[in-house]
Amino acid sequence: MTTIQLSVNGTATETTVEPRTHLADLLRDQLDLTGTHLGCEHGVCGACTLLLDGAPARSCITLAVACDGATITTIEGLDEDEIAAELRAAFAREHALQCGYCTPGMIMSARDLVLRLDSADEQAIRVGLSGNLCRCTGYVGIVRAVRAVIEARRQRGIAAAIGAGRTSLGPVGSQPAAIATTTSSAPRAMREMEADRNVAVRTLDIPEAVPAKSFDASFIVNAAPAQVFALFGNVRTLAACFPGATITDIPAPDRIEGEIRVALGPLAAAFRGAARIDRDETNLSGRLVGMGHDQRSRTSTSGQISWRMVPIDEGRATRVELAIGYSLSGPLAQIARDGFVRDLAARITTVFAQNCDKHLNGATTQAASEQPQRLNALALLLDVARTRLTVLARRLRRQ
Ligand code: FES
Ligand code: FES
Repeated sequence: MTTIQLSVNGTATETTVEPRTHLADLLRDQLDLTGTHLGCEHGVCGACTLLLDGAPARSCITLAVACDGATITTIEGLDEDEIAAELRAAFAREHALQCGYCTPGMIMSARDLVLRLDSADEQAIRVGLSGNLCRCTGYVGIVRAVRAVIEARRQRGIAAAIGAGRTSLGPVGSQPAAIATTTSSAPRAMREMEADRNVAVRTLDIPEAVPAKSFDASFIVNAAPAQVFALFGNVRTLAACFPGATITDIPAPDRIEGEIRVALGPLAAAFRGAARIDRDETNLSGRLVGMGHDQRSRTSTSGQISWRMVPIDEGRATRVELAIGYSLSGPLAQIARDGFVRDLAARITTVFAQNCDKHLNGATTQAASEQPQRLNALALLLDVARTRLTVLARRLRRQ
């Protein structure tokens, strides 16, 4: 056991803890400050965010002994805080909470943004809050509330607190120091991200990878196998059939560079990358091996999709058999559960199949067939949720 001194919500405290005790447990179990919530206990959900020496920190991954001598402010310590009061009012007004479980951590991170963001830039707010997950409200109201408070304060002539010893927005440790520093006109991190988005990934050497996860999928198209195989050889049209995909360059006949955009909750990911395509005309099969990176969430992915055209209905239709393998690393990998990715991929495959069918059966104009399709991930997610609820309801009815 180790004895440590802390200032908690303005009160000097001496307490004895085990070396393994994390700060959230100390506050909740020993000091009865249960406003600091615990969700994942892995530093992912942000529910346990509090202020450690003035900066938002995740108390579930902060050892209490490491805080000896520190000043800690929990949500209980913000009762009289002006920004927190404005945020509470804005959250209530904008319907930014339902169960409220995420709200203490959300207020902590939001307060930091209100304090430090120069303007109510929605993208910067979303990036700043990306370390706080809300499982029941959605983020539109939350972002609106934070924007409203920032706008109101700047209109009242209250300037952002630039610097103050910190170099990054968001909870402590949520962003590598390399992308830090707020300036008076716009956060440098945001400008760098914009610049990054404009730099094409020009990778001609696509390494082979061993995917961490894999699954199979298939769909049927009302066209002969050779026709479907030919469509799979026309990468621009094929990309236009794939929701969210855009081709930016074709540097070699079997190489493509492009982007896949997905918007989920507060995170808008744009995976830029490159891929190599191998085709085998004899077997009407092929394979795409690719890799991509989303600068904003710092998530990387690599993977491969193999396809095979199987004739059905005496060759008048084709069953496209897909084998999909992927690896994800980075923050998004922590929230992308296997079942969820699989369900989402199944929905994307369905939309892709419908678009291929339309194209092959002349239901799409030439111009439209080369336009990228937007990926409405929210609609796909709602579809996934609806299906899961239906299955659950069926199961309950049977019991
Ligand atoms: S409980 Fe600390 S980040 Fe989830
Ligand atoms: S309000 Fe319920 S988790 Fe956010």
